[in-house]
Amino acid sequence: MSTPKPPATCPFAGHSLAVFPANTTSQADTTTAAHTPLAVAGSAQTPPVEHGSLLQFSEDPIACMRRLHRKHGDLAVLQEGGQKLVFVFSPELNRQVLADGDTFQSQFFAVRGSRNSAQRRVTSGLLSQNGTEHRDTRRLLKDVFAKKALPGYHGIICRLTDELTTRWNRESHVDLNGEMVQFMLRMTSALLFGLDDPEFAEKLGRLIDRWTHRNHEVGMGALVSAPQFARGYELLLQQAEELESSIREMFARHRSGNSDGLNILHLLMQATESGGSMTDDQLTGHATLLFAAAHLTTAHTFSWTLFLL
Ligand code: HEM
Repeated sequence: MSTPKPPATCPFAGHSLAVFPANTTSQADTTTAAHTPLAVAGSAQTPPVEHGSLLQFSEDPIACMRRLHRKHGDLAVLQEGGQKLVFVFSPELNRQVLADGDTFQSQFFAVRGSRNSAQRRVTSGLLSQNGTEHRDTRRLLKDVFAKKALPGYHGIICRLTDELTTRWNRESHVDLNGEMVQFMLRMTSALLFGLDDPEFAEKLGRLIDRWTHRNHEVGMGALVSAPQFARGYELLLQQAEELESSIREMFARHRSGNSDGLNILHLLMQATESGGSMTDDQLTGHATLLFAAAHLTTAHTFSWTLFLL
């Protein structure tokens, strides 16, 4: 049995909470603020600023954040020239940032591409929305995650799990994390899109992972100028196009009746037909985000759960 990778947050949430004050010339994920009004409760101090390369964050986010937290506490600023990354670590400060939509804006993806680009469409899900637009989408999505929808997912969850455990009974060794990644790719694609096609699920997973990593890599280019970011930008746009075309292929399969059981895409399309106003471009953003947010987070959570049991 191999040791699982560290527990994941959303792949898209890979950077704890970073707050980018709007006086920086460009912004990366995740939340932007007009100024830095954060304050540690009971303290009138301004946040501690550490001067150093912002690249240390993209190179090893966890090590960088652990060090900043250890050294400065719940609120820390990493600054290079005029660019700042502000980190908040405590639940209270996170709540302050996440709950105050007038002061803080979510701008998760640093690179959105031009208005008509695939990159713009695949990054247009919930994490790029704010205010009433964000609230309205959350309302629309709420029903597909509601308790009453769960019995509809029961059959497919049991079938895929039975298949997995039956196969495990025949094998003496398994690569737990590899198995969980494959399993959750298949499960996510079945539950979200009604597609029980392991090959397609794997291809989509590969395209999403590659594109997600490229976003993290190139995203830093919005704050730090370095030649590798310029090269990566073209690749990012190209990978977004490939990803979008697979997502659209999935919509087409779905519409041609080639999908099984209850699934989230079906519910979303239904909601759209009965009065909602989601276009295929908007659906593309939500489908991409849901798939990317769902599969590795849960795969690594299951790996750790089984490993620790
Ligand atoms: C153990 C599993 C999971 C973990 C640890 C996790 C973690 C997170 C975190 C930390 C965020 C906040 C990101 C930010 O604002 O920067 C987030 C957002 C989100 N996650 Fe997950 N997630 C998990 C599973 C899922 C699953 C299964 C789905 C979908 C089926 C999902 C869909 C989303 C969506 C849509 C958002 C954006 C919400 C919004 O902005 O309103 N996540 N997740």
